[in-house]
Amino acid sequence: MASILKVFLEDHKVLDTMLESFIEAQISHQSTVMDQFNDLKNSLAVHMQAEEGLCNSFSHKNSALDEIIKIMREQHKQINEYFEDLGSFEGNKEEYSHLVFALVNLVKSHERFEENQLYPKFDMLLTEQEKEEVIYNLQLKSKVTN
Ligand SMILES: [Fe+2]
Ligand SMILES: [Fe+2]
Repeated sequence: MASILKVFLEDHKVLDTMLESFIEAQISHQSTVMDQFNDLKNSLAVHMQAEEGLCNSFSHKNSALDEIIKIMREQHKQINEYFEDLGSFEGNKEEYSHLVFALVNLVKSHERFEENQLYPKFDMLLTEQEKEEVIYNLQLKSKVTN
């Protein structure tokens, strides 16, 4: 049986690994840190775009989705704002680290929110054929690298 949760959960795992190695690179001042920052930013953008697309296509299925989608969109906006702040940051290292950890915490709690609230709802509301089509058309990092 096709599962929206399973596919996005796989991508969350990839994103979590990228987050961890970005923190690691940041703490130990590795030269790859900016590349990792950009890679993470781009991968998250692709992931969030896939989620927004899913919500745009199927939000009409049930009004119970409205509030969950609203929260998801607000959190995506916050995540993007963190990336913008970090990308143009001019404060000291301690403040930068603080911002990085705030971003990581936000992304992780956002992922858990989606895994518990958003994807199971889609799995419940979409037909088997709709789910298969959605999954087939997703362009996620976890799918590309598999
Ligand atoms: Fe998301
Ligand atoms: Fe997500």
